[in-house]
Amino acid sequence: MASSLPLWFPDHPPIYDIQKSYMDNAEEGPFFDGAYPERTLPPKEKWVDFLGHKIMSPLGVPAGPLLNSKYIALASKLGFDVLTYKTIRSAAHETHSVPNMIYIDVNGQLPRNESTLHQTNKQPHDMEHLAVTNSFGMGCYDPKYLLKDIAKAKASLIDGQVLNVSVVGTQRPGEDFIKDFVKTALLAKEAGADIITVNFSCPNVGKHTEGSIYMDPKTSGDIATRIVKTIGDVPLVVKLGYMEDRARLTDVLTSIARAGARGVCGINTIGRKVTNASGAPALGVGRETSGICGGPIRSYGLEFVKNARDIIVTEALGLTLLGVGGVVKPEHFDEYLSAGADIAMSATGMMWNPYLAMRWHEMHNVIIYD
Ligand SMILES: Cc1cc2nc3c(=O)[nH]c(=O)nc-3n(C[C@H](O)[C@H](O)[C@H](O)COP(=O)(O)O)c2cc1C
Repeated sequence: MASSLPLWFPDHPPIYDIQKSYMDNAEEGPFFDGAYPERTLPPKEKWVDFLGHKIMSPLGVPAGPLLNSKYIALASKLGFDVLTYKTIRSAAHETHSVPNMIYIDVNGQLPRNESTLHQTNKQPHDMEHLAVTNSFGMGCYDPKYLLKDIAKAKASLIDGQVLNVSVVGTQRPGEDFIKDFVKTALLAKEAGADIITVNFSCPNVGKHTEGSIYMDPKTSGDIATRIVKTIGDVPLVVKLGYMEDRARLTDVLTSIARAGARGVCGINTIGRKVTNASGAPALGVGRETSGICGGPIRSYGLEFVKNARDIIVTEALGLTLLGVGGVVKPEHFDEYLSAGADIAMSATGMMWNPYLAMRWHEMHNVIIYD
């Protein structure tokens, strides 16, 4: 069956304008002027269980591309069923300045050695080659705005979809870092999150430890324990970064499962040095390293998911597994599901092709177009 879904990439720009600031994108975006294809909803007996919620499909968007309720509403209409509200903090926080996202010159998968990567101004000729780096610093609005906007995001979903709210703790002088994680998770609960994902793995938060907690099984377990105790019946997912060391991954997964976390999500972006044509840091001094995302990290994400699934089964951890990293074409969702993910998600891919989920639904014959 030929697709009657309109083409998006490369004819249309991404739904997030990389020339504009994060705030401008939040206020003016999402930049979507396409049609809303009609989705034929699967019968309820085909819905899948996700942490106690029945959802229509195992497709989602992880923390990042859905900046606020307008973006959540768009992704919901375009067939994503696990919608993640971008990472929130306990207080308003500045985003890094523009540029926040640039194309990088990587052909194929990201090299395993830690060589420096280079910026390119050329848009890739196809989705497979969509290679980007991002650095936002997890900026966010104040709690008053968030309470209202997260509730609005939730109200935009339909039956068979869930709202996942991503949270992180902030290190502030004289304040208890772990308490701030708990406070932020409570804010997410109060705002109406169906599921909460705690981010232990952002590579763009510089010297702070916010981004590297996932490398430490004990701290990961301690923070997860405190959050689980406080949020009660709202399931907690822990977001991890790529981890090559299987023994360490086993320890982290065991530790968060013991803490009462119900799920694990990986991977986050992979931190690498990126320079421009003159050899200077492409995102500016102070941001020498940034997170690589899109096509080149798919093999890393798949490796993570295979290892995590194996460990979850072998150690009988009972964790639900959310896979992300490099899903830029609809068939990549299937690669993740086959590798052992319960849920497969796309961040960069869905920004450059918001019809990604609809194309998957079409491939799986659960959608009919006029
Ligand atoms: C624009 C953008 C912003 C992101 N912001 C966050 C964030 O706030 N919190 C988080 O846990 N991950 C964030 N991520 C990481 C994604 O959730 C995902 O783990 C990563 O991009 C790999 O997936 P991808 O290859 O599909 O982009 C962000 C990614 C992108 C592209």
